[in-house]
Amino acid sequence: MYTQAMSVGPQDQAAKVRSAEDAQREEAFEARVAAGDFIEAKDWMPEHYRKTLVRQISQHAHSECVGMLPEGNWITRAPTLKRKAILLAKVQDEAGHGLYLYSAAETLGTSRDQMLDALHTGKAKYSSIFNYPTLSWADIGVIGWLVDGAAIMNQVPLCRCSYAPYARAMIRVCREESFHQRQGYESLLVMMREGTPEQKAMVQDAVNRWWWPSLMMFGPADKDSPNSEQSMRWGIKRISNDDLRQKFVDATIPQAEILGVTVPDADLKWNAERDSYDFGAIDWSEFWRVVNGDGPMNRERLGARVKAWEDGAWVREAALAHSRKQATKEQAA
Ligand SMILES: [Fe+2]
Ligand SMILES: [Fe+2]
Repeated sequence: MYTQAMSVGPQDQAAKVRSAEDAQREEAFEARVAAGDFIEAKDWMPEHYRKTLVRQISQHAHSECVGMLPEGNWITRAPTLKRKAILLAKVQDEAGHGLYLYSAAETLGTSRDQMLDALHTGKAKYSSIFNYPTLSWADIGVIGWLVDGAAIMNQVPLCRCSYAPYARAMIRVCREESFHQRQGYESLLVMMREGTPEQKAMVQDAVNRWWWPSLMMFGPADKDSPNSEQSMRWGIKRISNDDLRQKFVDATIPQAEILGVTVPDADLKWNAERDSYDFGAIDWSEFWRVVNGDGPMNRERLGARVKAWEDGAWVREAALAHSRKQATKEQAA
């Protein structure tokens, strides 16, 4: 995942009154970050840095978990045992990514309950890519290729994020994302090389539907991304949204050519001068509509997460009752 929504959200107000001591600490902190030092959980950090990270890491964790829904929808309908085993493993990986990331966010002093409450009440965002439906089996391959591919592009720089627990979690996540991307691409390659004309058309249709939402995963254009500059200065973000989007297009178009599919962009053109592809304008009104809750699947996705939370209440209660019983036993001993 799925970091797109991270640069979205109100800019926190910097503390209005700062003591001289705080100013000194902040200066030392900024110098450490500028020198490429990593910040650990127990180190002093400015409140705004902490809040930015909690927002970013928790949104990332939510994206991993919500991201299981569109693909989980196809586990029982995978065409072969091999594809089912791969898809199961991938969806399970995404749950693991969510868990690493919730744990990383917890080191900043926020509880998992608080983060989940923010998701369930609609206060926290997750990547809007997961608010689109998976209509055919080809969507599963295209999600691996484009969505996990965009995720890798976004996440590799996060392995060098200044907040060490987040950076460490991202190293493992990125290794797994790379398997996700490859399994998706390979499944599309099989359909395009050995498939029937209907299967090939299904792949093209899936590419047509997922292309633009994948480009939106990099977030708003740099000029509309007010939090980005501060995040870059703090070493949370290393490469800007527009630069990452360009890198993704440049890496992906040659792969589309090998596959034998086209992307739905009449303005796409190689620009020898820039050594990059020029591409058409993104429909930002669609992006904001989906981010703000009105995409094709927003209500279903959130509804499924809230239901999972409510259905799991008995497990949490049982675990708490068990730990209370253990504690009483230990006290009595
Ligand atoms: Fe993931
Ligand atoms: Fe993934």
